[in-house]
Amino acid sequence: MAGPNSRQGKPQVSKAGSARPVVKVRRARAGDLEQYAENVQSVADEGRYIFTERVTEERKKSMGKLFKDKGCLVIVAEVVEGGKRKLVGNLTMTRYGDAEKSKHVRVLGMLVVDGYREMGAGTKLMEYALRWAGAKKGVEKVTLGVLSNNQRAIRLYEKFGFKVEGVRKKHYYIAGEPEDEIDMALFVK
Ligand SMILES: CC(C)(COP(=O)(O)OP(=O)(O)OC[C@H]1O[C@@H](n2cnc3c(N)ncnc32)[C@H](O)[C@@H]1OP(=O)(O)O)[C@@H](O)C(=O)NCCC(=O)NCCS
Repeated sequence: MAGPNSRQGKPQVSKAGSARPVVKVRRARAGDLEQYAENVQSVADEGRYIFTERVTEERKKSMGKLFKDKGCLVIVAEVVEGGKRKLVGNLTMTRYGDAEKSKHVRVLGMLVVDGYREMGAGTKLMEYALRWAGAKKGVEKVTLGVLSNNQRAIRLYEKFGFKVEGVRKKHYYIAGEPEDEIDMALFVK
């Protein structure tokens, strides 16, 4: 079904007008925090993909802490344009609370900024993240929540083997319309 993620009109060039950029995926470092936070805010401002609405200073501080947490993963997708490095995407795998009972679970969140989507960055981020989760001692399950209209993201998750675990009916209002949240998960061991 054609929707917000219809493949029609799939961009083949980046915003800067160059050919499909070479995307490098690497761990986030302290110096990435500003751009990282700006990217989250820019996707939040689109209002229809992620649950975050505002990246507050407090949220930024906890992002910075997360960069250093060895039990979690924060990676970025980077391109070089006009000789300058630019972050165009990110992926996090955070703990599901701090209880002993669920310490084998990580929660995945990811985004690619507008203008750089459907060029393989999401796939590269996911490949890196699942390699990490598969190799990380104690991590067994990766879980995520996605809005039911976000077919592009759902396809990506399915491509990597994620399965639907449940649906939270009308859990969000997006542009005034109720939308379901789909819970998906992948067992990495
Ligand atoms: C969802 C998102 C992370 C995917 O990353 P991406 O770099 O755009 O995706 P890729 O180019 O790597 O494509 C990955 C897969 O997505 C699916 N896909 C891509 N474009 C699609 C489209 N228009 N319609 C349906 N599925 C699509 C395909 O399965 C594709 O794999 P394939 O090309 O091997 O068939 C990215 O588009 C994004 O950040 N969107 C906005 C924010 C968001 O939705 N975040 C996730 C919240 S749960």
